[in-house]
Amino acid sequence: MGKIKVALIGAGGIGRSHLRAYAAHSDRCQIVGIADVVESAAVANVAEFGGRAFINAEMMLDAVKPDAISICTPPKFHLPAAKAAAERGIAVLCEKPPARNLAETEAIVAAMRGLLLQFAFCHRFHPPLRAAQALINSGRLGNVVQIENRFGFRFARAGASWFTDAETAGGGILIDTLVHSIDIFRALTGDEIESAQAQVSSALPIAVEDSASLLVRSSGGVLGTLNCSWVTPISEAIVRLYGTEGQAIIDYNAAPGLRYKLADDANWTEQNFDEPDRFVAQAHAFLRCVETGEPPLVDGEDGLAVMRVIEAAYESARVT
Ligand SMILES: NC(=O)c1ccc[n+]([C@@H]2O[C@H](COP(=O)([O-])OP(=O)(O)OC[C@H]3O[C@@H](n4cnc5c(N)ncnc54)[C@H](O)[C@@H]3O)[C@@H](O)[C@H]2O)c1
Repeated sequence: MGKIKVALIGAGGIGRSHLRAYAAHSDRCQIVGIADVVESAAVANVAEFGGRAFINAEMMLDAVKPDAISICTPPKFHLPAAKAAAERGIAVLCEKPPARNLAETEAIVAAMRGLLLQFAFCHRFHPPLRAAQALINSGRLGNVVQIENRFGFRFARAGASWFTDAETAGGGILIDTLVHSIDIFRALTGDEIESAQAQVSSALPIAVEDSASLLVRSSGGVLGTLNCSWVTPISEAIVRLYGTEGQAIIDYNAAPGLRYKLADDANWTEQNFDEPDRFVAQAHAFLRCVETGEPPLVDGEDGLAVMRVIEAAYESARVT
């Protein structure tokens, strides 16, 4: 097959990460179109990455006929974009959260049945997380019994952004950020989440939650405490694994990316990584699925599983 023709819908912050990732694979794919309702965003990115600029996604799909697209709009627009791709037989890499709720996610998965659909849970491709997964699989940590995760930072423009408009985003930080945490927990344990109880709060004058804590239990008995906040000033992105024979820490913001200590170790073992970042690795995996017909690492079922936990989490937060 020749170069894969890729296109982007939604040329904002994360859209540019997808464009940079496709550009890093320019030997395998060509960016043929960029659509954004803000024309200047489409035009500026076309000037940098190539292709043709559009303000209407469906017009772009019909004009440039891509083999594959990235959907990088706010969540409200994921379903219509995925439907438009499905009607045209186009492969989709869709940003997280899959959609605003479980019903919309089900509609995306149904529309894309028989076609390549990968949800962009990019942490699956984070090299330290993959190394931690290998460490767990090697058995050296023993049985993992607890996982702690925190994604926290100060989201300065929160009140002025679509991220805090539930109609556009589907909720607040719980759906925005804890989707990653839930996916990471599922990937590391290899289990489904059986029980999820959340508490949420808002320190900002916004209509959605800006901090959330989620307590989960997996089908294999692993406990998880997953925390996130938009209002804590010291940026943290950490996953801690506790096993019966050792523990490990993945710190996204500081070297080493992974360190671990086993029961009899005097010191921590440190692992640094000079592999491509998770967005480049994610694009590589997606393009490989287009090229080979292999199923994606993160598929529609993963999106549905995460969104079931999100719905249970919101439900528990409402009743407690
Ligand atoms: N994987 C990650 O780590 C990560 C990080 C940030 C954001 N995201 C997700 O990516 C998506 C986009 O987030 P962002 O931070 O890039 O937002 P953003 O606001 O920076 O960009 C969104 C872009 O989509 C455009 N847009 C809106 N509606 C559109 C439509 N109907 N058709 C075409 N373009 C449209 C906007 O004009 C804007 O340029 C969200 O789902 C978000 O949750 C993922």
